[in-house]
Amino acid sequence: MRGNYREIRQRRKKLMAQMGPNSIALLSSAPQRVRSNDTEHLYRQNSDFYYLTGFTEDNAVLALIPGRKQGETVLFCQQKDKQKELWTGRLMGPDAAKEELEIDEAHAVSAIDEILPDLIDGRDRVYSLMGKDTEFDKKVMDWVKVIRNKARLAGHAPGEFLVLDQLLHELRLFKSAGEIRLIEQAGKISAEGHKRAMSTCKPGIKEYELEAELLHAFTRNGSRAPAYNSIVAAGDNACILHYTENSATVEDGDLVLIDAGCEYQHYASDITRTFPANGKFNPQQKAIYGLVLKAQMKAIEAVAPGVPCDKPHNVSVKIITQGLVKLGLLKGRPAQLIKAEAYRDFYMHKAGHWIGIDVHDVGDYKIKDKWRLFEPGMITTIEPGIYIAPGNRKVLKKWRGIGIRIEDDVLVTKTGYKILSTGIPKTANEIENFMSESVS
Ligand code: GLY
Ligand code: MN
Ligand code: MN
Repeated sequence: MRGNYREIRQRRKKLMAQMGPNSIALLSSAPQRVRSNDTEHLYRQNSDFYYLTGFTEDNAVLALIPGRKQGETVLFCQQKDKQKELWTGRLMGPDAAKEELEIDEAHAVSAIDEILPDLIDGRDRVYSLMGKDTEFDKKVMDWVKVIRNKARLAGHAPGEFLVLDQLLHELRLFKSAGEIRLIEQAGKISAEGHKRAMSTCKPGIKEYELEAELLHAFTRNGSRAPAYNSIVAAGDNACILHYTENSATVEDGDLVLIDAGCEYQHYASDITRTFPANGKFNPQQKAIYGLVLKAQMKAIEAVAPGVPCDKPHNVSVKIITQGLVKLGLLKGRPAQLIKAEAYRDFYMHKAGHWIGIDVHDVGDYKIKDKWRLFEPGMITTIEPGIYIAPGNRKVLKKWRGIGIRIEDDVLVTKTGYKILSTGIPKTANEIENFMSESVS
């Protein structure tokens, strides 16, 4: 899939403009990961590397050298190789990569040990994603060592090693119009999956059969993989936040929590809906559902530029605590219960996270220990939930085992917010109507 290489070049320029004087940044592609013996997981490029290159092959290294006259961006990648390509697929090769990816200079990665030390030589600072890929960290040190050894004669080894994360991840936090379109498209595709699973559901079906419906819709609509392992959790399983076993039978009377989002052209969506297996909420399920929905909608409405990014969470905590008191699931004064974090027995996670190339995307939530303010172009999930543990003896039996989360992806706009994951039934009525219309 062709990336937006012009925009990607601008990202490199922006990053280089912020790097310290006389510096070099080094990034590596993601390694292949073994799944079993000699077969690998489906390859996924490292998100930082993808953001700065749009290149989807493994065994590649990017060097950014601001101010270098012969060229500021240098890519090392695999040579074209007829025999290798026959077995494992096409390779771009350095010549085509230079043109296509709009890189200044490209070399065969097999020559990296000869070429890269010379690029580092004379630089004062080396930026890298230290600590993320120990094998690559070691390689960087090996290249520096070559210069150190040479330095005794003529070379100049760098004296400062810096993490690139801060500069790069601050850039990634703010999405361009093109990136927003991709996340919106991922949301549209995921919506098809959620609707398909919801309309297929009936008591007796297996959780993995519903997962199959999700994956069918994702793949049929151009997504090559889910952005994370799909959670299809019926009954008590919905109280396990990241349940991925997806092997149980969906029983009559269960709620089914589906937390699933596709990845589309390297951008994630992350959506949760919870619905009754038999198409009708029982009174307890409906009461908790209404509460989570209210918390989610009010939390979304709190999203706007200039608002501290923990506000949606705080809004959802307040509504959920008040609601749990009203339903008799918590006892006491809401203000006190919030202070004592009593809600955490039922709502133990945050209301959201950044989303982008990674489903749990990069970017700081706090600046100097203070929650940062929302700004246009940021995208966050809003996903409050209530989970009443099956073994919670402090509540009446009729409430136990209810697990509900509702999650959408929300863009901060100039004036407020825009939901990027629309088109899936969401209110209890919408869900019941949709499911009754879908009965075959
Ligand atoms: N799907 C994981 C999450 O909602 O954060
Ligand atoms: Mn999720
Ligand atoms: Mn999420």
